[in-house]
Amino acid sequence: KKVIFSGVQPTGVITIGNYLGAIKNWTKLQEDYNCLFCVVDMHSITVRQDPVLLRKRARDLLCMYIAAGLDPEKNIMYYQSHVSAHAELAWILSCFTYMGELNRMTQFKEKSSKQGANINAGLYTYPILMAADILLYQSDLVPVGHDQKQHLELAREIATRFNNVYGDVLTVPDPYIAKIGAKIMSLQEPTKKMSKSDENPNGFISLLDEPNVILNKIKRAVTDSDREVTYSDDKPGVKNLIDIYSCTTGESIETSIERFNGKGYGELKSIVGEAVVEELRPIQETFKDLQKNKDYIDGIIKKNGETANYLATKTLRKVQKKVGFPVRI
Ligand code: TYM
Repeated sequence: KKVIFSGVQPTGVITIGNYLGAIKNWTKLQEDYNCLFCVVDMHSITVRQDPVLLRKRARDLLCMYIAAGLDPEKNIMYYQSHVSAHAELAWILSCFTYMGELNRMTQFKEKSSKQGANINAGLYTYPILMAADILLYQSDLVPVGHDQKQHLELAREIATRFNNVYGDVLTVPDPYIAKIGAKIMSLQEPTKKMSKSDENPNGFISLLDEPNVILNKIKRAVTDSDREVTYSDDKPGVKNLIDIYSCTTGESIETSIERFNGKGYGELKSIVGEAVVEELRPIQETFKDLQKNKDYIDGIIKKNGETANYLATKTLRKVQKKVGFPVRI
């Protein structure tokens, strides 16, 4: 079986953007691949985090993976910080990455312009750690949203460069980006991606939002002054709602467009709202049960962390040997 790797940062309650763009696709892939789904807590500290909250969010995210339908018996779900090989490989790979490449990363450019003068080095080398995450497990496929595409291209570049020097050591991973849903937009500013760190909570729907909150946020979603439901780039707000509907229900985009043909915005919003509420209801219920089930979650964390460590160390040792580090006796 081929290997899949992906991850989410535990920086807040995940949004339907993370869910529809990434996690929901993972649930479809878990049968056919050997999957690792990581809680990338090390990436999170590129922005200052409250330690107590970060720890809680990491655990909640792991519970959310399971609640969303990822089977902890079939997939390796673990914390990045529990596998030190991530940091060790990242160091080696940083010696195979050019500053020019990191300078070109649009996410870095965006985030660093927001952080002003105090741009930490971690924010800059972030894509190298991400490359290490992926390459450690010889991953074939990385299912992500559109915003991670450039980081993935860099991971491919680094792997190829390393292989050109040392032979076929690292698998060069392919991105897996769905056609619809890879870029769910903010409900308030539909030309911007939906983000869990948005200051305005009306811009996103969190996976833990209550039904009435979901319905209200969608009702208030920015569309335009027109009244006709059409699916086009000129109507990013409407297009976004139809995308959300199609991804949530699994109905094809063509059928979804057809369904809303001739309907008004009010009707569109209530149908989309209901669909999201129904999709999230069982996830929220399972999530709450899992949160209470301490021993079960602890067991998963321990077992999966060990498996991930074992697999990661295999690649790390190979890489260390190739670059000329003394072999352990
Ligand atoms: P993160 O935590 O920002 O987001 C997690 C996943 O959700 C996707 N996503 C979206 N998809 C559609 N619409 C949106 N509005 C939206 N917002 C987020 C992201 O593309 C991502 O797939 N650097 C990564 C985490 C990471 C990682 C990795 C991913 C670290 N190492 C290795 C894959 C492989 C990040 O910050 O994702």
